[in-house]
Amino acid sequence: MDLFRRLTKQPTLELDDIQAAVLRARPEPYFGTHAILEITDAAAGRELLRRLAPRITSAARWDEPVPAWTVVAISYPGLEALGVSEESLASFPANFRAGMAARAERLRDTGPNAPHHWEFPFGTGRAHLAVSVYAESKEAWQEAVDGYQRELAQVAGVDLLSHQDFGATGFNVFGYRDGFTQPAVEGSGAETMPGDGRPIKPGEFVLGYPSETGRPLPMPSPSVLGRNGTYVVFRKYHSHVAAFNRFLHGNADTAEERELLAAKLVGRWRSGAPLALSPDRDDPALGEDPRRQNHFKYAEDPRGLRTPLGSHIRRMNPRDSKLEILSDLRIRRLIRRSTSYGDAVPDSEVRDDGSSRGLDFIALSARAIDTVEFLQSEWVNSGNFAGLDKEKDPLISNQDKGAYFTVPGTPPRRVQGIQSFNTLLGGEYLFMPSLSAIAWLSQEPTA
Ligand code: HEM
Repeated sequence: MDLFRRLTKQPTLELDDIQAAVLRARPEPYFGTHAILEITDAAAGRELLRRLAPRITSAARWDEPVPAWTVVAISYPGLEALGVSEESLASFPANFRAGMAARAERLRDTGPNAPHHWEFPFGTGRAHLAVSVYAESKEAWQEAVDGYQRELAQVAGVDLLSHQDFGATGFNVFGYRDGFTQPAVEGSGAETMPGDGRPIKPGEFVLGYPSETGRPLPMPSPSVLGRNGTYVVFRKYHSHVAAFNRFLHGNADTAEERELLAAKLVGRWRSGAPLALSPDRDDPALGEDPRRQNHFKYAEDPRGLRTPLGSHIRRMNPRDSKLEILSDLRIRRLIRRSTSYGDAVPDSEVRDDGSSRGLDFIALSARAIDTVEFLQSEWVNSGNFAGLDKEKDPLISNQDKGAYFTVPGTPPRRVQGIQSFNTLLGGEYLFMPSLSAIAWLSQEPTA
């Protein structure tokens, strides 16, 4: 079975100028690295971009397998460090210019998630360039990493600050299949899957094309810099899987009950099968079938008897749920290219082994920064939009003492003991330029 969308129509987007990550799905299994670099000399930064340019993969023929692909994204301090003109810098949106750490309050990144707890180099203003390699095999991964490292070694004035390897089978460290629900992008050439509805206008995901409002979104200037680019939100989480397992064991007596509770928290069984279509038992074949795994809505389940109103996927994409606070869902979709790092933990393990493991949440869209700020403040860390009062997302919130999760039913069940199962280790707001913008950025700026 094909796990992903196929290219079935003539694309209208300029795919050979757009970076691969925008349309290329993460393979299963996958391997890779996220490297963060600091530019201490503008000319060296431009030289590195010139050298990396031939290695950066475009989105052309995003449906055909390639062994590995490399993507590059730049933070606002990175654009400054490259010597981009004041006029161009000023054309970027205010929250991108401020950076993720400065937006902590809006993102509800408080307590243990607050920037002063973050890992280096996040939030220091020194994370300038992010280079990521995604690969289908260990060999292709190593080759691509060796490739960009050879270029880096040739350039004095750009330093490697962090290098994080990732990789998984397609299931994250909690054991859930992840990353497969993606919006249908008009003009990408992708087939429409049952449940997609009308594809979303391309300008929601790539700058320079009509958005859902009919007009392109504001774009950085000059247009060679903005067009065919997009924004990236990167958030690195440490996952407390043993605590999650203790929570399941403490609230369910049998393996079946534990799996049902685990599914209620997310809205999907660990296989990916949605509760909306398979409420009583897991159905792995449904979980991996791209024609069925998203072919559902929530309107016929207004109380959340199948998919709880507070479950992770119902919060993050309420589809046709009736919301207490209205919102246009078509401008709130994200392309997710998240990656898992560290070993998965079996569900029987309730002791923390102290290992580093978790998820790099990576979201792309022309409004990714606004969307993640909205999701974090309204739908992740509050329950009001769905009549859930103070209840928060059970998976990704920083939870207060006494937090609980409601499983609707007659009577509803309040499951106590929800904790912060994922702690934020840091993050950055990035701009993913087009290939022609990378060429432009690698030239000496003209006055
Ligand atoms: C450690 C952190 C996280 C974990 C373990 C996690 C896990 C999952 C899983 C298992 C799914 C279902 C698989 C799929 O539909 O692709 C999912 C879906 C999703 N998640 Fe997360 N997630 C995390 C962080 C986040 C964050 C920070 C956001 C946004 C602020 C987010 C937004 C979404 C969205 C939009 C979906 C798709 C929902 C849909 O369209 O039905 N996730 N996540």
